[in-house]
Amino acid sequence: MALLTLPTTPFSDQKPGTSGLRKKVSVFLQKNYLENFVQSLFDVLPEAKGQTLVLGGDGRFHNRVAVQTILRMAAAKGYARVLVGQGGILSTPAVSAVIRATGASGGIVLSASHNPGGPDGDFGIKYNIGNGGPAPEKVTDAVFARSREVQSIHISDSPDIALDALGTVFMDGMEITVIDPVAQYAELMRSLFDFDAIRKLFAGGFRLRYDAMNAVGGPYARAILEGELGAPAGTVVNGVPLEDFGGLHPDPNPVNAEDLIAHMSAEDAPDMGAASDGDADRNMVVGRRFVVSPSDSLAVLAAHATLVPGYRSGLAGVARSMPTSTAVDRVAKALGIASYETPTGWKFFGNLLDAGKATLCGEESYGTGSSHVREKDGLWAVLFWLNLVAVTGKSVEALVRELWTQYGRCVYSRHDYEAIPTAQADTLMRGLRDALPGLPGTTVAGCDIAFADDFSYTDPVDGSVSSKQGVRVVLKDGSRVVFRLSGTGTEGATLRVYLERHEPDASRHDIEAQTALRPLVELADAVAHIRSLTGMGRPSVMT
Ligand code: G1P
Ligand code: ZN
Repeated sequence: MALLTLPTTPFSDQKPGTSGLRKKVSVFLQKNYLENFVQSLFDVLPEAKGQTLVLGGDGRFHNRVAVQTILRMAAAKGYARVLVGQGGILSTPAVSAVIRATGASGGIVLSASHNPGGPDGDFGIKYNIGNGGPAPEKVTDAVFARSREVQSIHISDSPDIALDALGTVFMDGMEITVIDPVAQYAELMRSLFDFDAIRKLFAGGFRLRYDAMNAVGGPYARAILEGELGAPAGTVVNGVPLEDFGGLHPDPNPVNAEDLIAHMSAEDAPDMGAASDGDADRNMVVGRRFVVSPSDSLAVLAAHATLVPGYRSGLAGVARSMPTSTAVDRVAKALGIASYETPTGWKFFGNLLDAGKATLCGEESYGTGSSHVREKDGLWAVLFWLNLVAVTGKSVEALVRELWTQYGRCVYSRHDYEAIPTAQADTLMRGLRDALPGLPGTTVAGCDIAFADDFSYTDPVDGSVSSKQGVRVVLKDGSRVVFRLSGTGTEGATLRVYLERHEPDASRHDIEAQTALRPLVELADAVAHIRSLTGMGRPSVMT
């Protein structure tokens, strides 16, 4: 094997998070930029002799080129085998599933998740470890440190391999198997859900509209929903992964998936709507003329989990990110199981899942998942809902309303202020943190503040502490406003303001969320001076 040693371009002057490195495509196109990341990663990983690597991405622009480069570098690193998805395609949850099912030592996912794609969009790369979950911070920190020193990259000079044909080829002695991206994942779904019940549901005329947003969820949804479960052809729309996602912003929320919302609001709306994001780990579930908040979705799944074969014996516990509404906590309490509150980001669920402390977990950002993999999983959530609808005979709306009747409604919204100059965002957060000690016991904008802090989390499994995870202002009635800066944006800073109010009174469950939350919006501005510091009169996105 010939190895070429080439000078490198440091991949970043900014530390990548555990969701990997996400940058504009133009940045990734710099000479040896991707190579620097991969070399740094391979340098910090142990020897690869005898090991298997899983490789695939969401099909966005640059995916194929990156796959070929990584194969050449994996050969130089000495992997025994690489399992690569056909066409370079693998969703994030599928990578996790394949790692776990095959005993691979890890996997590389090429995706910038829900960020737009195409030549002017974003590209991304992340590494998942042997449990199928995102690499922990100690790994990503080591990769970053290495990237500053790495002088040369080790890469085979073998030609490209054919990515579109299933089968095995060799590169410098390394076995490369091009796998069906769906098969392993579908088998896992079959083991969790009552496919017969869902098949009967579709056979009985139940109508679903699944919008894959021209992203990687399409092939999975088509094979499983239309192929295996008998949903009529056309159930999955935008089902072919496109390099630029057809210009869509593949982030399933009511704003970006407006076409789905329009269909679900129509007179002849289908019974259920669903969408997934760029790499198919996020999900949005919509009822007939009824939007479901992700926090409520998690709570409904938890409340009825034992109706689903994979969770028949009950849940060990549930976990939610701190800004996610407390709806699932209320269900957990009634079920007599533990509920964990973690910082934002999927990585914090890994230890709880590995230790058997939690079975279901979720975030307000349209992410839901369970111990079946170590990533959130979009189609899994949709199949869970379908299974519940099939065995209860209740509609999506009825299941959510039942939750509200039993536990009260957690009225919820997230307001995002995007592309704020970083310095302004830092000033805002600093000011807010400085004001924290003086808030409890005061009344601001008509709201009685009981408690305020900057969330700190001690991992119950390994004792590690993560501090400064978001400012919480909690009122006497339990309402909350949470402030944090996004860690995934690629342009300036994004301020996220999370608003939650509990409404026990059933006669007020139909109140429009933004109306119900208005006092909390005023409180948020009064304590954080959002309008004056950002110059933005209203959020860029409300979900
Ligand atoms: C966002 C979401 C967070 C999610 C992450 C990765 O992160 O808010 O819940 O885990 O994307 O999908 P943020 O941009 O807020 O840091
Ligand atoms: Zn994603």
